[in-house]
Order: sequence, then structure tokens, then C-alpha cells
Amino acid sequence: MASAPTSTPQLDHFFSSSAARLDRWRELNAKAQAWAAEGARTKAGGGRAAVEAALVELTAVEDFFAYPGPRLMKALAERISGEDALGVGRLVRKISGALLSGTYRYDSGEWESADDASDTAPDRVATPLGEGDSHRPYFETLFVTPLPAASRAKVARDIRRLRRVEDAMVYEPVLVGSVEDALLAIILNGKIESVVIFDGVPVPSQHDVPLLHELLRTRSDLDVSNAAPREIGVTLARMIKHIRPELDLYLLTDRQVEKIAGDPAAAVVRRVFYEVEEMMEVHLNILEGVADRYATPFFDNLKRYAARPIATFHALPIARGKSIMKSNWIRDMGDFYGQNLFLAESSATTGGLDSMLEPTGNIKVAQEKFARAVGSDHVFFVTNGTSTSNKMVYQAVAAPGDIVIADRNCHKSHHYGMVLSGAQPLYVEAFPMTEYSMYGAVPLRTIKQALLNLKAEGRLDRVKMVTLTNCTFDGHVYNTRRVMEECLAIKPDLIFLWDEAWFAFARWSPYLRPRTAMGAAAALEQWRASPEALKAYEAQAAELGGDLDPKDARLLKKRLVPDPRKMRIRVYMTTSVHKSMSALRQGSIVAVRDEDHNHHASAFREAVFIHASTSPNQQIIASLDVARRQMELEGYELVMRAIETALVIRREIGQHPLISKYFSVLGADRMVPEEFRNSGFRDFFTQGTNWMTALKAVQEDEFFLDPTRMTLVCGTAGFDGTSFKNLLAAKYNIQLNKTSRNSVLLQSNINNTRSDIALLIKVLLEVSQDIEAQLDEGGENARAAFAAKVKNLMTDVPDLPNFSRFHDGYREDPGSITLEGDMRGAFFAAYEEGDCEYLPLMSPKIDERLKSGPQLVSANFVIPYPPGFPIMVPGQVIEADTIGFMRKLDVKEIHGYNNARGLKLIKPSAIGKAPAGAKVKAVPPKRSKS
Ligand SMILES: Cc1ncc(COP(=O)(O)O)c(C=O)c1O
Repeated sequence: MASAPTSTPQLDHFFSSSAARLDRWRELNAKAQAWAAEGARTKAGGGRAAVEAALVELTAVEDFFAYPGPRLMKALAERISGEDALGVGRLVRKISGALLSGTYRYDSGEWESADDASDTAPDRVATPLGEGDSHRPYFETLFVTPLPAASRAKVARDIRRLRRVEDAMVYEPVLVGSVEDALLAIILNGKIESVVIFDGVPVPSQHDVPLLHELLRTRSDLDVSNAAPREIGVTLARMIKHIRPELDLYLLTDRQVEKIAGDPAAAVVRRVFYEVEEMMEVHLNILEGVADRYATPFFDNLKRYAARPIATFHALPIARGKSIMKSNWIRDMGDFYGQNLFLAESSATTGGLDSMLEPTGNIKVAQEKFARAVGSDHVFFVTNGTSTSNKMVYQAVAAPGDIVIADRNCHKSHHYGMVLSGAQPLYVEAFPMTEYSMYGAVPLRTIKQALLNLKAEGRLDRVKMVTLTNCTFDGHVYNTRRVMEECLAIKPDLIFLWDEAWFAFARWSPYLRPRTAMGAAAALEQWRASPEALKAYEAQAAELGGDLDPKDARLLKKRLVPDPRKMRIRVYMTTSVHKSMSALRQGSIVAVRDEDHNHHASAFREAVFIHASTSPNQQIIASLDVARRQMELEGYELVMRAIETALVIRREIGQHPLISKYFSVLGADRMVPEEFRNSGFRDFFTQGTNWMTALKAVQEDEFFLDPTRMTLVCGTAGFDGTSFKNLLAAKYNIQLNKTSRNSVLLQSNINNTRSDIALLIKVLLEVSQDIEAQLDEGGENARAAFAAKVKNLMTDVPDLPNFSRFHDGYREDPGSITLEGDMRGAFFAAYEEGDCEYLPLMSPKIDERLKSGPQLVSANFVIPYPPGFPIMVPGQVIEADTIGFMRKLDVKEIHGYNNARGLKLIKPSAIGKAPAGAKVKAVPPKRSKS
């Protein structure tokens, strides 16, 4: 990403800082080693200047990190000025090594300069960072203090003196002296877990940070210009919470602490202390706050359980692992997984563990912690993936006959959820990206139009829910807040189900969080409570009327405002924790922020009973608990790194002269039509783009592109998506996500390392070189064949078929302009084999029927992979474009289509017929003779 020119550019690279910092240390190390070698030989040369220049790049950033800290930085500066090239080389090698390996977190020797390991350093204390081999978790605590810089070393010493051998964790202090520096510190340093703010700190930073100033200007609610200096602490606390909500904040003030503690604006502060009070209290609170996030109640209990000597007479032969470890034939399974897996295998009914179906103990607490982490009121653990989470939500909130507005392109679990619940889908279409054989996201205008049509036809009360995929498989992120706001303006009690299967990690990115379901729900709640909300609504009512007229064409163009007195905030979010965090496969959650959830609480319990296994996997539950712990403690840093990884991949592919000849990663400009990019944002690497322009796009654009989801076009290299995916897997051990006709989807996540990037780039280069060589060798013929292949993949693409409509037999009101239908009726009609017929896809009979009828009506879902969305659903009238698309498809996997038999259709005579079971009359119970 291009950055604005500034005298200290490194501070403005807010979200690409962690690797950049390590790179700078590597760079400094290289320079220092060169100087050491040169100094040893000649005692003269440019080595010192190079080291000093590299050090300047680092110095400003290092103010915000505990390690190496002021003392080692001072020692380094002294050695440089003393021309001690060898000493500089040793010290820099040591520091950069400790930073890379992380040893500074537990080895107190790393904090000593190389030559004085035995010296009793003045600002070190007797208690070392770690005790022997027991690596206590390490973190950093930010102290924001108005004390002059000269006394900070003493303060840091005093803080270290609070450490006790019995402390379960250890932290190092980082001291800064202003509001802006505090913000820089929590942005740049992901190791900070808690912040202690002394009231009365000044605002301006000592660093030159134009982007930070601009960022602060965009947050009028966090304006510090009007806050009295003595009250700045609470404002700073709110700013920090906005950026990193997971941090524990403490305020030290000499004002009336009781008043502040009772002030709702200070709710973000975990504890308020009177400034002269015992610092040990602060210390203990810091440790307790982090310990609370660290605690994983279910996992901790499971570990204790596994250690107990238990004999089971339960239907759990795998538990304890005895029949495995002693087996002649399956011992390798035990060797592979290790005994703990079997010691931890158990069932809720054995006692000692909580029940996932009816949690009252540690699973309940684990769920509450997860809810806190994602910003919801409740979280329900699910051990069969988001496929099940989605079905649970439908089952819990929708009843037969309710209308659900859904992206037709959504995951199949939504369609099945509607079949199960009997909700009638009103499909809305995403914008097509025909060139890449994929869909984008559903324009808000389309959703509003659907709601307004229903209102015009008097059926708005039937609409229960709007469900959208955020982000889409290919990375389109909705403006979640705006979608909810405008829909609530039309129907104030709508429920929203945001399927964030891929996207839950975004909670830990300050950039992406506003676009998550829960981030938007929080913002909506804040807006609703503000006086501006009612003012905005009243202005709209004066212009458009209180009861919006669905025929008023202005409604589609205007940004609609809900009535803050009527709107309800009813948000459900499902996510595959296993897709973006460290949970085992199938670990998923339903997160609920629904102020009317009590309407559905018992239905929700039923939904859990209907869908959850009565033998949920304990390891999956434990991994959900642990995944939450990780994200609450290092999610910010990990997500920042995942975004950074994606940006590096995008940049390297775009800049490489040979790779970019054959491959490209699609930017926002090619993934999101211009009409949905109000801010003018084009791509992360367009000239003039910096994080502020990206932020503007996040705030304003209808769709934003998740940087971690990278559509790599391979059709221009002559590969269709599936072949390229197979090539990468078979030859290079690279696994990737989905494919389209001419692209593959790469995804960076919290697990990726820079070595992964290097491997990918190397492989793309190798493939590009192979293509070049083949074209060179094959001459004109080969080049013509290659061009034809590329053309076929890139231009001769089939049009994507829209959802046609449900057959009139499955519609309550065939004359209605809205297209919802009784998909469940059609689904069950297909259970009667005698009522179905099969027609081979290539059969001329299909063309005849398309031309002269009777209509072809699909009996089931037909879902080709790729693209993975249903091109036919039960009860849908099949039209020529769908047949054309299917005939052109060159994919092997088409769920719901049997190539040998052909398309399964509902016979015209059976359409609209009630399913067989519906005809069975209930038999009255026989009276007993007695
Ligand atoms: C948007 C979306 N929702 C839900 C799911 C289902 O998630 P899971 O695999 O956890 O069952 C997927 C899976 O790919 C998905 O893409």
C-alpha cells in the first residue's frame, strides 16, 4: 500500500507494522554485521553511517515496544558513538534474534547487553521474566503517564518491582506520555494486553503522524479537542476500546473516582483507581484481567478430567485409549494422535463435564466468554459446522409461511434451512461477475425493492428475516450497518442473519470490524441512543412522510433512516470458527445480539435439540474455547499479519514482471462495479492509496473487498481453475480454496508465514517460466493454441442464469410481483418417485418442452461445483438460460444431478399436489375397554 510522504513513514504503516519492524531489524543486523566485518579489517568506511541510517528507521517505532527497550537502545547508541563496530554487531544480532524467536519473552538474559550479562543492571530487578523452564505467558502493559520522559525509567523500575514469584504471568511496561502516543502504541504493538491511563496526559504525539491525525479527525465522537485535560483519560479509554475492544483498561485519577466509576461513558474502563492508591492493586488487576481472557473453562476442565484415573462402563470404547494403545492392529492411531486425545474423549452424561445441549457450567461460561469476544449477547457452540448453525437459526426464528429474503447465491445450508422451517424464500440476486463465472453481493437497492414490493402488496408483515453472506466466498464485504439501517426503515423489527462463515476474524481488525454483523449492531445501538438519530428520522419523515410510500421512487435512491423509537436490533451471526481461527474442523458458533431474543429463546433450545448431536465432540468444544482465548489475546496481531500477508502477495504478483504477465490478483476495481465504490477506492496498490483512503472506502462504499481473499486469475495463463488447483496441490503441495472457470481463490489466514508467501511466489514464477519456455519452443503454433485457450477461458464464458421463479403451483398468489414460493412443498413432492420424471440434459425433449411446454419444474437442488450455488431449487421453473449454462459447464461435480438419468423434474400432473403424508388422516386413539 502506498503511504503518504511523511518524515517518519514507518509510524503511518499502521496495519503492516509487525513484519515491517522485524524486516528493519534484519536490515539493521545486515548493516551492523557488514560494519563489524569492515571495522575489523580497516577501522574505516561507510559502515557506521549505514548502521545509523538503519537505526533512525527503527528508533521512533521502538518507543512503543518493551523489548529491546530504552536501556538496550541506549547501549546500542553508545557503542555506535564509541565506534565499537564488533560490539554493535553482537548486540544487534542478539536483539534481532530475540525478536524473531520471541525468546525475550522468557529469557531475562536477552534483556542484558551482550557484554554485561553478569552486570547488575540498574533498571532490572531480581525477579526475572521467567522462572527456569516454566514459561510464564508474557505480555506488555501500556502506561500512559504525564510524567516527564526523564522519570520514566524509574517508573518502569517501580512497576517491575511489583512482580511476584507466584504471579502466573509476567508483563513488561511500555511508557508513553501522550494520548496520540498511546494510540500509536496500541495500534503498533500487538503484545499490549492492558493499558493504565493516568488522567491529565497531554494529547499531541512527539512523532510526526499525519495519518493518525487524519484518522482522529474522522471520529467526531472521539474528539479530544474539547475534553478538559484532567478528563482526557475516559476519552482516551473510549478511543482505545474502539480500536482494540479486547484490551483491559485502567484509569488512575485524582478526581472523584466514585463519580467516574458510575459514569456510563466510563463503562469501558475495567477499574478506576485513586491515583495515590497502592500500585500493587493495579498490578494484581492487570494480571487478573489477562488471566480472565486466558482462562478456558471447558478446556481447563477437560484437561483435569483427562488426568483423573477413570474406568468407563459407558458406550465409549475409545475413551482412555486402552484398546488402542494395546492393540496389535490400530496402535499407530494412538501413536499418531497421542494418548491425551483418548483420555479426553468423554460424554456429557459421564459426569464431570458440562453438556453442550443444556449447558449450566463450564460450557456456559465458555460461551459467555465467546459472546464477550465477538460483541454479542449470547453465543451457542455448534460442533457440526456452520451448515448446522444456519439451520438452527432458521429453525428457531422462522415458521412455515414466513418470508425470508435471501441471496440465492448463499450457502446451501440456508436453502435447506428454509426447507426445514417451511419459510418461503424470496431470492434476491447478487450482481454477476460473468467474466469470472462468479457472483458478487446483493445490492442494497435490490433488497429495498423486495421489501417495498412486499409492502405494496400488503405482505410486509410476513417477512421475518434478511439473510446475507458477509463476506461472500470471493471477498465482498457488505456495508452491514447501512443494510440494516435502511431495511429497518422499511420494516423496523426485521431479523438479520449474517452468515460470516469466513469472516469472524474481522472482529479483530479495527478496519474490518465496522463491517461485521456485530460491529454494525453495536454502531446501530450507539446511533439509536444519540439525539442525532431522532433528528435525522424526523427530517426524513418531513420529506418522505412517516409511513413510507412503497411506490415513492425516491426511496430507492435515498439513504433511509429508521425510526429510532421503533427499530429493534435483532442480529444473528454464524461463523465457522474453524475457517478463520484455531478451532478443529466443524467448530462453529451462532452469535446472537437480538433484543427480542426472548421471543425465540425456547424455539432456539428446540433448534439446538433438533440439530445438535447428543454426542458432541469434546475436542471440538475445547478448541472453540481455546480459539476464543487466542483471539482475545493475540487476535489483533495475528489478523494484522494475515492482512499483511495478503497485501504482500497482491503486491508481489502485481509487481513481478514475469508473473504479472500471466497471473493477476483481482483488486476492488475488478471485483466491485464502480457504482458500489462511492469513495473512488480502486485497489490497495493504486497510486495515492493509503490506509486513510482504504478507511474511507470501508466507511462509505457499498461493498468493500476483504484483502485476505485473493482471486488469482489463472485463465490468462491457460489454466482453468480446477486444473490449476490440481497442479498446485499435486506438484507443489499448495492447497487453496475454491475455483472458478478461470480463477482460483487464495486465502491468507492467521496461520500463514512469510515462507508460505515465498513458496507461492516461487511456484508462480516457475509456472510462468514453464509457459514462456513452452511458447518459445512451440513457436507460432503453440502461441496460437495458447491464445485460443486463454480466449476460451476468459471470453467464451457462459452467462450466469438468474433465479427464474417458482411454478405457480408453489405460489400462494401467482399474480404477485414478489417471487417467494413454497420450496418445502416442492421439495417433499419429489419424495414421490411416481410424481417425478427424468430428462437427460442433452435430450432434444428438453428443448421441445422449453419451447412448447409444459414447463420444466425442478424436483431438487442442482448445485454445480464450482461455482457452488444452486442453479435450480425445488419448485423452480427451469428456463433456457439455466439449461444453456448447465450444458456449457465443464465441471465434474454437480450435486443433485445424476448424469445417467438426467434432470429430475416434478411431473406436470403432480405440481402443487400435497405431499403423500399430508393426506394421511390422524387415526383417533382407541378407547381402552377398561
Ligand atoms: C457462506 C458459508 N456458509 C456456511 C458454510 C458452511 O460452513 P461449515 O463448513 O462450517 O459447515 C460455508 C462453507 O463453505 C459457507 O461458505
